[in-house]
Amino acid sequence: MAQQKKIAVAGATGRLGRHVVDVLVERGYDVVAFSRADGVDIETGVGLDEALTGVDIVIDASSTPSADQQVATEFFTASARNLHAAGERAGVERLVVVSIIGIDGSLAGYNAAKLAHEQELLKGALPVQILRAAQFHELVEVMVGWGTQGSVAYVQGMRTQLVAARSVAQALVDLAANPIPAEDIPFPEIAGPQPETMAAAAAALVAARGDVVRIIETSDSANPDREQFENGTLLPSPHATLAGPSFAEWVAATVPAAR
Ligand SMILES: NC(=O)c1ccc[n+]([C@@H]2O[C@H](COP(=O)([O-])OP(=O)(O)OC[C@H]3O[C@@H](n4cnc5c(N)ncnc54)[C@H](OP(=O)(O)O)[C@@H]3O)[C@@H](O)[C@H]2O)c1
Repeated sequence: MAQQKKIAVAGATGRLGRHVVDVLVERGYDVVAFSRADGVDIETGVGLDEALTGVDIVIDASSTPSADQQVATEFFTASARNLHAAGERAGVERLVVVSIIGIDGSLAGYNAAKLAHEQELLKGALPVQILRAAQFHELVEVMVGWGTQGSVAYVQGMRTQLVAARSVAQALVDLAANPIPAEDIPFPEIAGPQPETMAAAAAALVAARGDVVRIIETSDSANPDREQFENGTLLPSPHATLAGPSFAEWVAATVPAAR
């Protein structure tokens, strides 16, 4: 039997990264998992050369917690440059990186930073496969947290085809094993089984938990990406892979009060 590849996971402790590590281990890969908790900083490059020693493929699931466009752009462009440079030195074959569906026209905030991320990645020396994902089921809780003021949570109007981080992890590992040629599909996509709105998902989540929080959907005219969020630009393309569980199934399986 051919020897399994050695695969490094950057951002291995995150919402997505922990599932990527689990899927790789389940499939028998030799895994190097790291984040700053292990002394490896993908933004400064500290510890990256050591972490990538002997690695064949890097899956990058790292992120900054900041939604500020400048902070996030600095993080993602520096990480892209560092991964290419350290990856080349280590003899890495290619990078597999996750991005977001529908961000081509993004003008602001985190999504614009992810667009800059993609562009920087594609300038580098190593082959790169970028998987664009829909918003994760796990993001709904984060958005409720950001928007909560007392007993009300303000949630940005957004049409999205929410997907489980575990399903994105499986798709990333599939791509690591079997890359899709860019001339066939430049940006493969992974999304959940059906369109939803972020506000309806948020309401379903707080109801399942029994939280006394009222969800109010907002439409922020100061946000240059508002129209894209609201008009379905973030929904998957026809070529997307759609994978369950649905948000409702995921809530039923993961929220104790909903079981
Ligand atoms: N969340 C979504 O709905 C969604 C949707 C589509 C695509 N994506 C993409 O999926 C990726 C992962 O997102 P996520 O929500 O899973 O992120 P997350 O939960 O915030 O996890 C981020 C990970 O990156 C690590 N990290 C942060 N700064 C680092 C640094 N300087 N050096 C090394 N590691 C660092 C964190 O660990 P430490 O703090 O220990 O370093 C953590 O392991 C991102 O590229 C994001 O754009 C997310």
